[in-house]
Amino acid sequence: MKIHELLENHHGSLARDNGDVITIGDARIDIDTKAQFSPRPQSVIEFLVPKELRGQGIGTQLLTKAVAKYPMLGGQVSSIASLKVFWNLGFRNPGMPEASFQDHADRMNEYSSVFMARTNEHGVPYENT
Ligand SMILES: CC(C)(COP(=O)(O)OP(=O)(O)OC[C@H]1O[C@@H](n2cnc3c(N)ncnc32)[C@H](O)[C@@H]1OP(=O)(O)O)[C@@H](O)C(=O)NCCC(=O)NCCS
Repeated sequence: MKIHELLENHHGSLARDNGDVITIGDARIDIDTKAQFSPRPQSVIEFLVPKELRGQGIGTQLLTKAVAKYPMLGGQVSSIASLKVFWNLGFRNPGMPEASFQDHADRMNEYSSVFMARTNEHGVPYENT
């Protein structure tokens, strides 16, 4: 069983008091707002759209809302659909911000996940660099 299936009925934040959960119906994005061990101040710790609702833009809407609230957001990404949503909204791996989508996908496949951030370490969105 996958971790997101185990978490399906979980409603609070995995980060407890430091967490912020944004929802659209049963779809959710969970953010650690004081991410101690992440390269960025806030980090996505769960991102889940129910299977039957995927591919309709709900994930994109959730991440867009999260970015509006936390412009320096980052997150460890581990699925191709998720990578696509992060990529489309300007997230890049800080170690290779100029690399292609395929390079990011290859990195994710090699290491099981790839860290993606919306801005560089100075807070400038990658799309403006
Ligand atoms: C990741 C997830 C939240 C995205 O939610 P969603 O509502 O389906 O997202 P959207 O509809 O906004 O966008 C999905 C994008 O992924 C793309 N996509 C989906 N499956 C894909 C695949 N197998 N290969 C490449 N792209 C894929 C879609 O084409 C779309 O991109 P586009 O707008 O450029 O066409 C959802 O797929 C999910 O819950 N997955 C299971 C849990 C998971 O992987 N969580 C993230 C862990 S890091």
